[in-house]
Amino acid sequence: MVTRGLRRRLTSYGDQDFSLFLRKAFIKAMGYSDDALERPIVGIANTYSDYNPCHGNVPQLIEAAKRGVMLAGGMPMVFPTMSIHESFAAPTSMFLRNLMAMETEEMVRAQPMDSVILIGGCDKTIPAQVMAAASSEVPAIVLPTGPMDTGNHKGERLGACTDCRRLWAQFRGDQIDAAEIGEINGKLASSVGTCTVMGTASTMATLMEAMGLALPMAGSAPATSAERMRLAEETGRAAVAMTETGLTTAEVLTPAALRNALITLQALGGSTNAVVHLAAIYRRLGRRLDMVEFDQIGRQVPVLVDLKPAGTGYMGDFHHAGGVPRLLSELTDLIDLTAPRAFGGTLGDTMGALPPRHEDRIIRPRDNPISASGGIAVLTGNLAPRGAVIKHSSAAPELQTHEGRAVVFDSVQDLTERLDDPALEITAEDILVLRNAGPKGAPGMPEAGYMPIPRHLARQGVKDMVRISDARMSGTAFGTIVLHITPEAADGGPLAAVRTGDRIRLDVPNRSLELLVSAEDLAERMTALPPPPPTPGRGYARLYDLHVSQADDGLDFDFLMANPDA
Ligand code: FES
Repeated sequence: MVTRGLRRRLTSYGDQDFSLFLRKAFIKAMGYSDDALERPIVGIANTYSDYNPCHGNVPQLIEAAKRGVMLAGGMPMVFPTMSIHESFAAPTSMFLRNLMAMETEEMVRAQPMDSVILIGGCDKTIPAQVMAAASSEVPAIVLPTGPMDTGNHKGERLGACTDCRRLWAQFRGDQIDAAEIGEINGKLASSVGTCTVMGTASTMATLMEAMGLALPMAGSAPATSAERMRLAEETGRAAVAMTETGLTTAEVLTPAALRNALITLQALGGSTNAVVHLAAIYRRLGRRLDMVEFDQIGRQVPVLVDLKPAGTGYMGDFHHAGGVPRLLSELTDLIDLTAPRAFGGTLGDTMGALPPRHEDRIIRPRDNPISASGGIAVLTGNLAPRGAVIKHSSAAPELQTHEGRAVVFDSVQDLTERLDDPALEITAEDILVLRNAGPKGAPGMPEAGYMPIPRHLARQGVKDMVRISDARMSGTAFGTIVLHITPEAADGGPLAAVRTGDRIRLDVPNRSLELLVSAEDLAERMTALPPPPPTPGRGYARLYDLHVSQADDGLDFDFLMANPDA
C-alpha cells in the first residue's frame, strides 16, 4: 500500500505508530483539524526573501496556489527553502545553486508531501529546484514567479537587464552623464518579477513549459498580472491531481522531453546558462547532454523569438503573442508532441487551445525567422578540448570569423584592475582572454564573460570585440563572446597556457576556436604551469571545490549525479 499524506516519511523513533501520534500532536498546534490532516498534502516551496525582488510576488502566489489546492480538496503545506538573487549572492549565485538544489531535495524528501509546487524565478532557482525534483520521488510542478513589467525613460521602454548593460556601456562611453544614469537606475526594474528579456530566468521558465513541468503560459505571464495569480491557483489544483496520478520528474523528463528542451532553447535564442543547467539535469537523470547533438539541433532550428538581448521585444510581448504554446506550434515537425507532462496529458495538449495567430513579429512563423539557425553554437579546438559555447545570434556577424592578438587577463580581479588602464596596449581587433573564471577558478563561474569594451575603445565608438573565457555570461548580455571553455584554466585546460601576443582564431561557421601555436609548444607550456591553488580549508567552499564538475557536466557536484560512481 502506498503511504500518503501525514503518514509519509515518518521521523524515526523506533515505533511508527508513536511517530505518527507525535507528528499529529505537534501539527495540531497549528489549529488544523483531523479532516484537514487526512487530505492529500501538497508541499509549496516558499522562496520569498527580502533580498530577492525577482520573488517579490511569492506571498501572493502562495495564497493563490493554496486556494487552488484547497478548492481541489487537498491540504497545502508551505515550507521555506533557500532563495538566490543574482545581485545578492557572493561570490556568485552559481556557487550556491547546488546548495539550494541539495536543500530543496532533502526538504522535499524529509517532510510528508504527496506532490510539491516549486515556486522559483530568479536565474538559479528554477534550475536548482528541477535538479532537486529530478532526484526526488515526489511529483513536482514548477510555478515561475514571472517576468517584471517594463519601465520607461524619455519615451523608451526599459527592462532589466539587457538595458542595464546597454546603458551602462553608454555611460562608460560618456554618452550618458552621471545624473542621467542615476535616474535610469530607478527605472530599470520597475516591478517585482524576473528580468523581462530572454535572459536565463525567462529561458528556464519557458523551458519548464516545453519540458512539461509547468502549466501552459506559466513561463511567461507577467509577475504582476491577474493571469499569473490564476495560473498559481490552477497550479494548486493540478498539484492535488498529481498526488494521485502524478509522474515523478524523472518520469516526465524522458529523452524526448529533454530533446524538446534543447530545440526550444535554440528557437528562443535563449541564454547560454541554460546549457549548463540542462547538462546538470541530464546528469541527475543518469544521462549526458551531447554537445554535438545540441549543436546539430542548432543548425536545424531557426531562432523564432524576437526578444532582447538578441532582438527587440520584452517578455510581456512574448506572452501576449502566445508564449510557449505558440512557439511550439511552429516547431511541430521537430519536437516530440507525445512527451508527457507532470500534470497529465502530453506536450501536444499544450497547443490544444491555441487561439488564431494575431501577430508575427515577436514569435515568427517558420518562413520568416530571426535567423535561419539556432541561437547557440558549440565550438571545439585546441583551446576548448571539451567544448565552449557562443550565443552567435547576439554576436556581430563580421566578428564570427576573426583572427586576432590575445590580450590575457589572469582573473576577474586582474580584468577589473587593468582593462581601463590607459597603458594597456589594445585595439578593437585584439581578442580579450579571461581565465580562472570557471567553476573552480573564481570560484562559482561568475558571469564575467561579458567583458566590458576597454573604456578608451568604447569612447571611440567600439561596440563589440571578440572575448573568450571559461566564465559564464548573463543571459541578458550580448556580443561576440565565447564562454564555458572546458576544461577551465584552473582545472588543467589549455586556456591557462595562452600568452598575451598569441594569435587566436575564432571560426563560428566551422565551430572552431584555435590557439595558433604548435602542439609541441602548447604541451611544453602546459607542463610549466604552476600548481593549482590549494583547496579551501573548511565549509561549503571546501565541499564545492572538491566536488564541482566542469561546465559540460553542469557544475553539479559529482555525488549528486544519478550515478556518482560511474
Ligand atoms: Fe533575478 Fe534577473 S536578477 S531574474
